Amino acid sequence: MHQGVGIQLRGIRKAFGDQQVLNGVDLDVPRGRITVVIGRSGSGKSVLLKHVMGLIHCDAGSVRVGDDELSTLSRTALRLVRFRFGMVFQNAALFDSLNVFENIAFPLREHGSAGPDGRSRRMTEREIGHRVEQMLASVGLSGMGRKGVSELSGGMRKRVGLARALVRSPEFLLYDEPTTGLDPIMTAQIDNLIRSTQDANPGITSLVISHDMAATFRIADHVAMLHDGAVRLHGTPNDFRSTADPVVRQFVEGRLDGPIRT
Ligand SMILES: Nc1ncnc2c1ncn2[C@@H]1O[C@H](COP(=O)(O)OP(=O)(O)OP(=O)(O)O)[C@@H](O)[C@H]1O
Ligand SMILES: [Mg+2]
Repeated sequence: MHQGVGIQLRGIRKAFGDQQVLNGVDLDVPRGRITVVIGRSGSGKSVLLKHVMGLIHCDAGSVRVGDDELSTLSRTALRLVRFRFGMVFQNAALFDSLNVFENIAFPLREHGSAGPDGRSRRMTEREIGHRVEQMLASVGLSGMGRKGVSELSGGMRKRVGLARALVRSPEFLLYDEPTTGLDPIMTAQIDNLIRSTQDANPGITSLVISHDMAATFRIADHVAMLHDGAVRLHGTPNDFRSTADPVVRQFVEGRLDGPIRT
């Protein structure tokens, strides 16, 4: 696989019953960049992300993450690949019974720190404390470690979710609709955080799912649109602004009037 490609999807097909959700998806996700996958609700964006994580298996095709072809991996090897991912869930998915500090510390306690050789190492309490404070500062929540999850606003939750995803310095960062349900100002703040996280960690390969075009244009280096089970267009934000493809144009311009083109 080309050095610059972090994640490579080839001919991914996936059906649930008689519903063909993915019907030959090809996508190269470049290393060290933010790629945003857009598409209508139900177009298969989350299903695609689950293939990348190895949480569901395709009916046909191949998923390569770094040098690993997921379908050839043992269960144990697949687990090790997953440790190289950070995942920011749509609803933040924090543990309500743990405070902010313990939520962020959780992956470190479970898996230790990620060593340069990919092996994990147990961390001392002191090291964990230091790392969590560092992460809190990076998402603008210094001193908030003792707060309970129920005391947080939606935007704060997302930031804690991001800190938790980043705490083990993952190689791959996946976001499923990171700003859904937030107000425009909070959305812009989270988008800035996604962009600054990428810029501060240039080795990370980020894959973001979104159906918000304004957010996409704010953060993306590359954009891919899923439509009818395949990638309809893959290019730069400018390629999306200037495309003549009516299906893509309709999505980009957010036109909800008139017939939906299929
Ligand atoms: N485990 C499953 N079993 C059966 N059908 C599923 C399963 N997961 C997803 N689907 C179906 O696959 C289609 C694509 O779902 P997916 O969640 O990927 O959409 P999406 O593009 O992420 O939409 P949204 O923007 O609303 O999150 C939907 O029709 C959904 O019902
Ligand atoms: Mg989804």
